[in-house]
Amino acid sequence: MKRVLVTGTTSGFGLDCVRQFLAKGDTVIATGRNLSRRPEVFAAERALYGDRLIERDLDVANAEQRSRIARQAGRVDVLVNNAGLGHFGACEFTDEEAARRVFDVNFFGALALTREMIPALRESGGKIVNLSSVFGFAGFPLAGVYSASKFAIEGWSEALAHELRPHGVSVHIVQPGGHRTGFLSNALWSVVPSDQGLSAAQDQGLRSFQKRLTSRPRGPSAAGVAAAIVSLAHESKAPLRVPVGRDARMMSFLKSWLPKDLFQAVLFRMTKSGFSREAGA
Ligand SMILES: NC(=O)c1ccc[n+]([C@@H]2O[C@H](COP(=O)([O-])OP(=O)(O)OC[C@H]3O[C@@H](n4cnc5c(N)ncnc54)[C@H](OP(=O)(O)O)[C@@H]3O)[C@@H](O)[C@H]2O)c1
Repeated sequence: MKRVLVTGTTSGFGLDCVRQFLAKGDTVIATGRNLSRRPEVFAAERALYGDRLIERDLDVANAEQRSRIARQAGRVDVLVNNAGLGHFGACEFTDEEAARRVFDVNFFGALALTREMIPALRESGGKIVNLSSVFGFAGFPLAGVYSASKFAIEGWSEALAHELRPHGVSVHIVQPGGHRTGFLSNALWSVVPSDQGLSAAQDQGLRSFQKRLTSRPRGPSAAGVAAAIVSLAHESKAPLRVPVGRDARMMSFLKSWLPKDLFQAVLFRMTKSGFSREAGA
C-alpha cells in the first residue's frame, strides 16, 4: 500500500483523490489551506479510515508551511501536486499581481514543494503526479496566464522526469479537460476597463462566458480525473502524459497529429466562433 501526499484537497479533484486513495487501502496525507479550521471536509473519511488519513495545513504558496510538511511527512511514495488556481481575462488587461498569484500557486508552489520532497521520493523510489490541463498544451484566448502556468508545469515536469528517472523516481503529467469542480467559481477573473474600445467587446464576451460557465457548471465530475491519478500511482509503467476527458483526449490527438499551423488554425476557429458568439459579434 502507498503513502500519498496530495495538495489542494478541500474540493474538486484533490478531495476525490483522497477518497479514492483511502478506498484503495492507501495512507493519505491530505493537505489544504487552513484544513485544521475546516474539520467538516473529511469528517466522514476520518470516521471511516482512522489513522490512514492524516490531515495537514498547507498553503502551497507558503514557504514555511511547505518546509514543515516536508520535514514531518515521513515516507512518501506518491506526491500529487494538485492545488491550483484558475485565471480568466484578456492578456492585455491582466495585472501583474494576479499573474504572479497564479504562478505562485500553480507553478512555484509545486516546484518548491517537490524540491523539498525529492529526498523522500528518491528513498521510496516514488512518483510525482503533476496536474496540468488541456490549457497546458494549447493556449486558449482569455486564459493566457493560466495557460502559461500550466505550460510551465509541462516543461518543468518533462525535465524533472529525465532528471529523476536514474534515481528511480517517475514523473507524470495529468491533463484534464473541462470538469465540474469548484475551479470556475474559485478562479480569478480580470475585467477590462470600460473605456477600452474594441477590447470592451472582448470583455463583454468574457462576462457572458463567465456567467454561462459559473451558473451552469458543465462537464464530467471529478471522479474520472481522481481515478486516473490513483491508477497512475499504482501502475508500474505509466506514460509521462495522461489526458483525461473526451475534450482533452481529442485536443491531445489533434496536437500530436496535425501539422502545427493547422492545429493553430483549428484552435483559432474553435475559440473565435465561441467568443464572438459570446460577444454578440
Ligand atoms: N476543473 C477543471 O476543469 C480542470 C481542468 C484542468 C486542470 N485543472 C486543474 O486541476 C487542479 C484541481 O482543480 P479543481 O478543478 O479540483 O478545482 P477546485 O475545486 O477549485 O480545487 C482547487 C483546490 O486547490 C486548492 N488551492 C488553491 N490555492 C491553494 C493554495 N495556495 N494552497 C493550497 N491549496 C490551494 C483549493 O483550496 P481552497 O479551498 O483553499 O481554495 C482547492 O482545494 C488544479 O491544478 C487545476 O488547475 C482543473
